Amino acid sequence: MQYSLTFPSGTVKYILHLRFAEMKQFIEPEHSILLVDCKVAELYADSFKGYRTILVEADEHRKSWEQVENICEQLLSMGADRGTTLIGVGGGIVTDLTGFVASVYMRGVAFGFVPTTLLGMCDAAIGGKNGVNLGLQKNLLGIIRQPSFIFYDAAFLKTLSATEWSNGFAEVIKYACLFDIALFDELEKNSVEYYQNNDEALQLLIERCVDHKNNVVLADEQESGKRKLLNFGHTAGHAIETLYEMPHGFAVSVGMVIACKISEKETKLNAEVTDRVKKLLEQYGLPTSAEMETKKVMEVLAMDKKKNSEGISYILLKNIGEAEIKTLSPDQIRNGLETYSHAGSR
Ligand SMILES: NC(=O)c1ccc[n+]([C@@H]2O[C@H](COP(=O)([O-])OP(=O)(O)OC[C@H]3O[C@@H](n4cnc5c(N)ncnc54)[C@H](O)[C@@H]3O)[C@@H](O)[C@H]2O)c1
Ligand SMILES: [Zn+2]
Repeated sequence: MQYSLTFPSGTVKYILHLRFAEMKQFIEPEHSILLVDCKVAELYADSFKGYRTILVEADEHRKSWEQVENICEQLLSMGADRGTTLIGVGGGIVTDLTGFVASVYMRGVAFGFVPTTLLGMCDAAIGGKNGVNLGLQKNLLGIIRQPSFIFYDAAFLKTLSATEWSNGFAEVIKYACLFDIALFDELEKNSVEYYQNNDEALQLLIERCVDHKNNVVLADEQESGKRKLLNFGHTAGHAIETLYEMPHGFAVSVGMVIACKISEKETKLNAEVTDRVKKLLEQYGLPTSAEMETKKVMEVLAMDKKKNSEGISYILLKNIGEAEIKTLSPDQIRNGLETYSHAGSR
């Protein structure tokens, strides 16, 4: 399946469910350089024969300015010019880095993505946000610019670890909580194994997530309103991810439970809904609590990008499929985190 979507910052061609070998029809290999996740390069070595490649380590600490510089130096020595297309092949770390490098190298070159993780396919590769970290602040340096294509080959997922499958499901469950009660029901009936063993169900699931994310980004690419909803679970989640070095999806999972707990107070979310969300996250191998120090989490939150003079914009649930953006004061968040710590340690 192929289709194009036009966003204010560019048009993206979605090429879904082809084999990676077929990508050659859509690009000019001689004018392309692939930035490939080291693990993917090793696992699928034959697939990259005939391409010029730069290997990128999927290390969150190296999703950094230094790494951007390092990749730009390699591009320069390989003779990359304004006519070169950079193609990021990997999880969110590689696609974020590729989009960022492509946006600054020679004032911007074309780029495309081949996401190879579930999280990448359902979330990170979509939407045009290309960021790198600055110290403890996740994605603080960044730009919104769309890739010219995103190429999906779900066969890459066959080699994902159990942790990475669960990691991706955190974002899938996020879409279900925010927009899609039918998806929530479907996920409740199934399991990671079901999607691992049922290619068609997996492809439909990926397409559904792509649609959810694109619907939001088409309405609000610059994140002045609706796009903020996608930060459900990410406010406390990002702080926990950075402080406790948890995989992104795992931290977001804990963050979603925290947001539900805060919602019980702020939007009168029924506690039974929180329990349902928690149960679903656990069913997909995700953590729903973490040992954490409220004070430290608050310190990181104080520097959050979503902060303004009135407080921090927080995504709360009213019900499954119904979310709301609310500005919360640090005290309201602290109370929520503290209530949560009690609930979490019970
Ligand atoms: N730009 C966005 O809108 C956006 C959205 C969500 C997340 N992100 C970013 O994405 C990153 C997380 O992405 P991720 O979860 O994909 O992590 P990742 O890129 O770290 O990949 C996870 C692990 O899977 C390995 N891997 C990748 N593909 C594989 C394959 N096919 N088989 C086996 N192993 C494979 C990697 O080597 C790595 O060890 C974070 O940096 C996060 O900030 C960005
Ligand atoms: Zn995320």
